[in-house]
Amino acid sequence: HQNERESMMVVTEYAAKYFAQTLYETDEGQSVGLGYFRQRGFRDDIIKKFQLGYSPEQRDALTRQAQQHGYKIEFLEKTGLSIVRDDYKADRFRGRVIFPIHSLSGKVIAFGGRVLKSDAKTAKYLNSPESEIYHKSRILYGIYQARQEMVRQDRTYLVEGYTDVLSFHQAGITNVVASSGTALTVDQIRLMARFTPNITIIYDGDPAGIKASIRGIDLVLEEGMNVKVLLLPEGEDPDSFAKKLGKEKLLQYIRDNETDFIKFKTSILLEDTHNDPIKRAQLIQDIVRTISVIPDSIVRAVYIKECSKLMNVEEPVLYTEIGKIKKKKQ
Ligand code: CTP
Ligand code: MN
Ligand code: MN
Ligand code: MN
Ligand code: MN
Repeated sequence: HQNERESMMVVTEYAAKYFAQTLYETDEGQSVGLGYFRQRGFRDDIIKKFQLGYSPEQRDALTRQAQQHGYKIEFLEKTGLSIVRDDYKADRFRGRVIFPIHSLSGKVIAFGGRVLKSDAKTAKYLNSPESEIYHKSRILYGIYQARQEMVRQDRTYLVEGYTDVLSFHQAGITNVVASSGTALTVDQIRLMARFTPNITIIYDGDPAGIKASIRGIDLVLEEGMNVKVLLLPEGEDPDSFAKKLGKEKLLQYIRDNETDFIKFKTSILLEDTHNDPIKRAQLIQDIVRTISVIPDSIVRAVYIKECSKLMNVEEPVLYTEIGKIKKKKQ
């Protein structure tokens, strides 16, 4: 498929340039697209660094211009940029601001498009479909722009979405990637693991974000990586919070409030137990199950000690439970 992949990436590269040019060099792009980014407080250097763009309202503006320049409709369709039915051709992202998604080596492989005004009828974000060059579950938004700093800082901040990544960069924190709303996958974790084993999950401070964090913890631990979690105040997401605090205060907040997974689980879940012994026992079971997925026995021992203290349970009891879980799994 090598030729096909290359032909597709030539088209996505062209489209990214088209969207970026439209944003800065057309009236509609400036007033609608650029106006939107500016109103959200994004600076030009960030808009350019991430090649943000705008796709005009007109039904087939990109498709028509690309074809005029000799790009084949076959590849416009395969990359999901054009929707083709019989004689009908339309741009997938029309009327949206555009977030190109880059591969690890910096090639544009897909796009996210956001509506300018959210309402219940239209999906807020539209993404490129899965294709020969874009597998959503294997890529992280921002990985190309983050990889160097992930190594240098020996840590990755994992956030939910496009604008979260942008705002961290704008604040001067660049070791950040987004899982783009989907549930974190093993492939995405392994992608981060190539650069550093240390992850801090910073998801939205809403029930969905908390749930996704808890789910992410076990997966990251199973891969033998170290995970910390930062719970944001209710109603904040990494984008809004980074804009509010700026670099130094944000880094300080992270240092003061990030916790390891046991503290995170106990602090979140202990509230619900209301000292009910059955619920308490269930929570301990839950934490023990999470500890049992850690591959390294020394790391496990450290967490067992912590769990023992926090939950006030003797260590040998915890070891026995972990033994039972491991036996069941075999
Ligand atoms: N997402 C998506 N499709 C949707 C909603 C969300 O693909 N219909 C993905 C996007 O990558 C988005 C991320 O999930 O960035 C997080 O979703 P959400 O928190 O709802 O959006 P924000 O990133 O906060 O976007 P904004 O600030 O622009 O509203
Ligand atoms: Mn193939
Ligand atoms: Mn959210
Ligand atoms: Mn959000
Ligand atoms: Mn947001």
